[in-house]
Amino acid sequence: MFGSRREEFGEDFVFGAATSAFQIEGVGDGRGSSIWDTFAATPGNVVDGSDGLVACDHFNRWPEDLDLVRDGGFGAYRFSIAWPRVLPEGKGPPRDAGLDFYDRLIDGMLERGIAPYATLYHWDLPSALQDLGGWQNRDVARWFSDYADLIGRRFGDRLAATATLNEPWCSAWLSHVLGKHAPGLRDYRAGARAMHHLMLAHGNGIAALRAAGVRNLGIVLNLEKCEPATPSPEDAFAANLWADVFNRFYLGAVYRGAYPAELVQRLEDFLPAGWEADLPAIHQKLDWCGINYYTRALMRHDPAGGLFPTTKVDGPLEKTDLDWEIYPKGLTDLLVEVSRDYTDLPIHVTENGMAEVPGIDDPRRVRFYEEHLRAILAAKAAGANVAGYFAWSLLDNFEWAEGYLKRFGIVEVDFATQKRTPRSSYRAFQELLRR
Ligand code: FCB
Repeated sequence: MFGSRREEFGEDFVFGAATSAFQIEGVGDGRGSSIWDTFAATPGNVVDGSDGLVACDHFNRWPEDLDLVRDGGFGAYRFSIAWPRVLPEGKGPPRDAGLDFYDRLIDGMLERGIAPYATLYHWDLPSALQDLGGWQNRDVARWFSDYADLIGRRFGDRLAATATLNEPWCSAWLSHVLGKHAPGLRDYRAGARAMHHLMLAHGNGIAALRAAGVRNLGIVLNLEKCEPATPSPEDAFAANLWADVFNRFYLGAVYRGAYPAELVQRLEDFLPAGWEADLPAIHQKLDWCGINYYTRALMRHDPAGGLFPTTKVDGPLEKTDLDWEIYPKGLTDLLVEVSRDYTDLPIHVTENGMAEVPGIDDPRRVRFYEEHLRAILAAKAAGANVAGYFAWSLLDNFEWAEGYLKRFGIVEVDFATQKRTPRSSYRAFQELLRR
């Protein structure tokens, strides 16, 4: 059980559980192809050769899953809408059956007293848009705002909070420079364009949602606490550069309307011409700030890195089943930094959790959550405006390039039978949140 008490967080503090569409829904009654369908179908991209065709079969089992959210004591559920389910070609005519599914899901939350926190884009770009260049094509900002308009008009009055993008660093750098996520490119020009067009899509998406009358808008950024591997000035430089790439590019764009100067210098040749003129459209007024936190990045200078001479080293701290260092202090530090340097908006920690070896009893995960909840209380005490916390994830699910081997659920999923079994960590939240 957790040591902290519900009252310590304040009455209005939101506790939720999070998932994303591609990772849990399965195809269900049909959806268009996304970049993750074709990426997963290509051998070598996903460790266990798996795909998202069935996943947790949440498309059919959502009532049971929402019951789990409610019975866990969570007041909110963070989910994402699959763009290709509602717009199979990414643009053009919507698919009614797809819209109907999200009607059922959102109404199902409201019936259970769960506040719907929607994310419009959690990585499943329609393949038809990838054929046109995807995030590398400037038109994607328009396709996205048309999609946002559709969602806003149809569901906006029932959503408690809405985010445009989940973790644009992953959609840009991890997917277009490091090649580890769909569409699997390794190219700075593709990456720089994706970075900028994602930001422009966010800005245009916010404008479209506002015009459709949707309230409480934000974006979800993943931040890593970047620290130097040694006290050398070279490693300090490497950690700082990585913080620009990972954190400050997106924080700067969204909350200041500016990209970090040093990073822009390095990317200058690859960014689309005239990018500066888009900054005002990117810098929209928001209502809340979403931060996902998992680990720190311990960085060392690496002359072999070319334009980005910085590389991650294996740190000494206790690690999760994905070998990510467990570092709750990094969460406190980042929350305080963001509140101090970027925004006074209420911050929701929209994802936090750990991959752990299979099993129903997960004492290390219970401890992980307890330590990160404490880290949030520490950040609040230091003045950070933290308003909510979402556990990643409600369910074991398709963990992208790791397939189904790495388990983040506070509820176990047996993928052979689709049976859900709450873990000790779920019970710990239930105990904390019991009225
Ligand atoms: C985040 C993603 C989420 C999940 C967790 C473990 O980067 O937003 O979908 O994969 O990591």
